[in-house]
Amino acid sequence: MGCQYFEPTDDGATTFTVAMPKLTFGRGALSDTGARAAAMGIKRIALITDGILESGPLVSIVKESMNSAGIETLVYSDIRIEPDDDTIMRTAAFLKDARADGVISVGGGSVIDTAKGALLIERHGGNIRQYFAPPIGEGKPIPGPVAPHIACATTSGTGSECTSISVIRVNEFNTKFVIASPYLLPDRAIVDPQCCDSLPANVVASTGFDLMSHALECYTARAYTSHLNIDNPDNRQLIQGANPFSDLSAREALSIVGNYLARGVADATDHEARDQLMWGASLAGIAFGNSGTHLPHAMSYGVTHLMTDITTKDYQVPSPFVPHGISVIVSAPAIFRYTAEAQPQRHLEGAAFLCADNKGATPDDAGEVLSTRIIELMRATNIPNGLGGVGFGAEHVKALAESSYRQSRAIANAPRESNLTDLENMYSNAISYW
Ligand SMILES: [Fe+2]
Repeated sequence: MGCQYFEPTDDGATTFTVAMPKLTFGRGALSDTGARAAAMGIKRIALITDGILESGPLVSIVKESMNSAGIETLVYSDIRIEPDDDTIMRTAAFLKDARADGVISVGGGSVIDTAKGALLIERHGGNIRQYFAPPIGEGKPIPGPVAPHIACATTSGTGSECTSISVIRVNEFNTKFVIASPYLLPDRAIVDPQCCDSLPANVVASTGFDLMSHALECYTARAYTSHLNIDNPDNRQLIQGANPFSDLSAREALSIVGNYLARGVADATDHEARDQLMWGASLAGIAFGNSGTHLPHAMSYGVTHLMTDITTKDYQVPSPFVPHGISVIVSAPAIFRYTAEAQPQRHLEGAAFLCADNKGATPDDAGEVLSTRIIELMRATNIPNGLGGVGFGAEHVKALAESSYRQSRAIANAPRESNLTDLENMYSNAISYW
C-alpha cells in the first residue's frame, strides 16, 4: 500500500488492522436480539439502558425478544448521560450481583460506553480510574476479554456500538477521558433505524454532526504509516491513523451527511434520510474505531469541562449540558481551517463528499471550502453559532486550550502538529462564524 497518502516512512507502521463487531443493520433488527443472544449461549442477560428509554418501546421490543428466546432479563437504568467513574462502578456492581452470562446495551453513546466500562470492572476488578493513562490513572492494561456484549445504538451519531473506545467523565478532574482496548469492542452491533423515528430534530442534528466529525477526522487523520511501528503487533491500539479501510467507511459516511442530514433533521417522517443517517453513523463508527479521531474531538473536551449554566432544547438533562455532537462541531470549522495546509487534498475531498461546491478550488482554498460547507450545514440545522452559541467568549479561550491540551493522543493523530498557543488560536477563531 505504498502510494500517495500511505507512503512508507522511516520507523512507521507497515501494516494496519481492521476490527469491528458482527454488525446487523436494518428495521426489525431489535426484534432478533433474543435469538442472537441465545445463539451466543446466553441464558440470563443484563440489559443496560437509561431512565428515559427504560419505559419506552425500544426496550420493550428487546425484553419481549429475550423472553421469546427463553432468556431471563435484568434491567439496569441508573445511567448518567456522559457517564462518570461513579456510573461505571455502580453499573459494575449491578453486573456482579446480576450474575448474567452477557450484557445487552440499548441506548446512545453514554449507555454503550457505560456497558463497556462496567464489563471491564466486572471481569477484571479494580477501579475504572486505574485504567486511564497517567497522569489521570495508572495506565493499567486491560488484561483480557470481558463478558459477551450486544450493543444496540438508538441514536444516529455515536458509532460506539462499533468501537473499542469508552469515554468516561472523571469526577476528580470534571472532564472526560478515553479508555481504549480491543477487548472493549462489542461482540455484536445491532443498528435498527426505527430507533430514529421519534428522535427530536435537534437530537438528529447534534448526533449527525458527531457522525460527520468522526468521518472527517478519520479521513484527515495522519496516515497509519506515519505512526510508529511497534514490536508486538497484537498490542496495537485501533487508534492507528487513517488507513484504506477507514477511508472507505468515512467517504461513504460523509456523502450520507452531505445528502441527508438537513432532510433528516427537517422531517421526522423522512425515513429514507433518517435510515441513511443511522447507516452513516455506523460507518463513521467503524472508521474512527479503526483510525482514531483528532482535534475536533480533543477540543470538545474543553467545552464539556468548562461549560456552565447551559442546556439544549429537547435534551432531558440538567444544566450544564452541551450535547457531544455540538461540543465537537462548534470548533470544527476553525480547526479544519488550521489543519488544511498539512493535507489540503484530503480536506478538499472531504468537502466534496459533503456535497460542497468546490469547482476551481485550489489547495490554498481547502480549509475555507471545507469550513464553509460545515457552517452551511450548521446553519441549515439550527446548530449554535460557534463557541459563543454555547456560552463561551474570548475570556475562556486560555482555559479551554489548557483543558483540551491533555488529550495528547488525539491531538497527535491530527495531520498538523499543534501546541497550546495553536489551540488557543483555534478556539479564538471558533467563537462566532456568522
Ligand atoms: Fe464523537
